[in-house]
Amino acid sequence: MSRPLTIAVPKGRVLKTLAARFAKAGVDPDVLLSDDRRLVRPTADDSVRFLLLKPDDVPTYVEYGAADLGVVGRDVLLEREYDLYVPLDLGIGICKLAVCGLAGQPPRTDLLRPLRVATKFVSSAARYYSDKGQQVEIIYVGGSVELAPITGLADVIVDLVETGETLRQNGLEVFEHVADISSVVIANVAAFKLAREPIRTLLAALKQG
Ligand code: PRP
Repeated sequence: MSRPLTIAVPKGRVLKTLAARFAKAGVDPDVLLSDDRRLVRPTADDSVRFLLLKPDDVPTYVEYGAADLGVVGRDVLLEREYDLYVPLDLGIGICKLAVCGLAGQPPRTDLLRPLRVATKFVSSAARYYSDKGQQVEIIYVGGSVELAPITGLADVIVDLVETGETLRQNGLEVFEHVADISSVVIANVAAFKLAREPIRTLLAALKQG
């Protein structure tokens, strides 16, 4: 039997939806959903081996060929250049990257200093404001970024908004749309060019939705 197809997937909220999508494509998703600490998860028939990774690390494993395929949010791909193919948008994990701040207090343009923007998405935020021709000071924060405008660390944040619940519960709102985000399949360049049968079959099945 040929070696298993290695697929890097992100831990986190998209995993359940992703498992359902793999199930429809004929890949047993049970191993993805089992509640344990294993990072390498072979399916029962050994046709696929899932690697469970932090979302930001998924493209790295695929780029270097440690995984043949991966699934990742476009937000991650917007942050850095990778040598990868993006053969399929799965249409799941849909959310947006947005400029947000304290509700009812849109960012002022008459500040005597550059607007302070807190975000994990430094490249996307820098590109967005540079395209607008607006000078800003970008402050990197790794998570719970909603705290930045609340505490005065920054004027606004650039962050992912899905249901809007996190913003609402923290008294924030969306001011500007930066980018539409969804989960995409990424492929290692060499693996994709060789287009081994399992890769072709799986991509075709995932495409069916
Ligand atoms: C993301 C994002 C927001 C939240 C938005 O964080 O940074 O905090 O989800 O989702 P909502 O609009 O449905 O409330 P995540 O939960 O991925 O954790 P993180 O703070 O570790 O990035």
